[in-house]
Amino acid sequence: MKIIRTLPSMTAWSERLRREGVTIGFVPTMGALHDGHRSLIRAARLQCDALVVSIFVNPTQFSPTEDLAKYPRPIAKDRSLCRAEGVDVCFEPTAQAMYPEGFQTVVTVPAITKLWEGASRPHHFGGVAVVVTKLFGMVRPHVALFGQKDYQQAALVRQLVQDLNLGVKIQIRPTVREQDGLAMSSRNVYLNTDERMIAPWLSRALRAGKQAIEGGMKDGAAIERSMRKTIEQAPAIQVEYLALCDPDSLEPLTRFTRRAVILGAIRIGSIRLIDNLLVNVPGGKNRAR
Ligand code: PAF
Repeated sequence: MKIIRTLPSMTAWSERLRREGVTIGFVPTMGALHDGHRSLIRAARLQCDALVVSIFVNPTQFSPTEDLAKYPRPIAKDRSLCRAEGVDVCFEPTAQAMYPEGFQTVVTVPAITKLWEGASRPHHFGGVAVVVTKLFGMVRPHVALFGQKDYQQAALVRQLVQDLNLGVKIQIRPTVREQDGLAMSSRNVYLNTDERMIAPWLSRALRAGKQAIEGGMKDGAAIERSMRKTIEQAPAIQVEYLALCDPDSLEPLTRFTRRAVILGAIRIGSIRLIDNLLVNVPGGKNRAR
């Protein structure tokens, strides 16, 4: 496996392979790789000739009060996972190279990022949109894979690629979960033993919502109430949102008969966790709030 640190070397490698007709798969990450990343890497490996994983803790998607400094950076472990999974290039640019003095471009995808994570973390999606655009420009992938766990991020990337004609096929892969239902996340390492015990209640609440819908409940407020009732059984959880939304626009839904995504965010102490579930209900049309 090749480790590439500079932007021109990354682009030169990709351009050479593209000229040779090689298809390039790309999994962008911030490192601290877990089985969720592994499943993206494996899916990419199966469909592409060459595979790039980027490891870059992107400073612009953290607000000044967030965990940039303490974000886990187990680089040796990450590289060995990539090596074991047959990754061809680990791209590890520096923040200085990515954001040299004088950098000023902003990329905004306003409607999709207005609510939920965008409302809780106003800095976040601007940083994600810029870094993903830059990484696509350097890695020049044919296919890029993202996890459904960050549902709103995935929706943003899809919109961005479509609006800016970036020519990258975007694949969203299912969330990988621990046995007790907790969605895998690099930030799960922050949870202490007690917090880890209660963390799966977020996925239980989402499942309660999904079951209510599948059982025929169509009233969004009632479904949200049933999710809150579930999560209230757990101590020390603060709900930020548990919302039933249109899976494309991410607008809240009060009534629906077709498809929905249930988005959730909670806090356990200082740790914030997000998760989501897609629900399919046959027939009919959604009505936005
Ligand atoms: O999901 C992540 O790990 C990051 O937001 C991403 C897409 C790599 C951009 O920094």
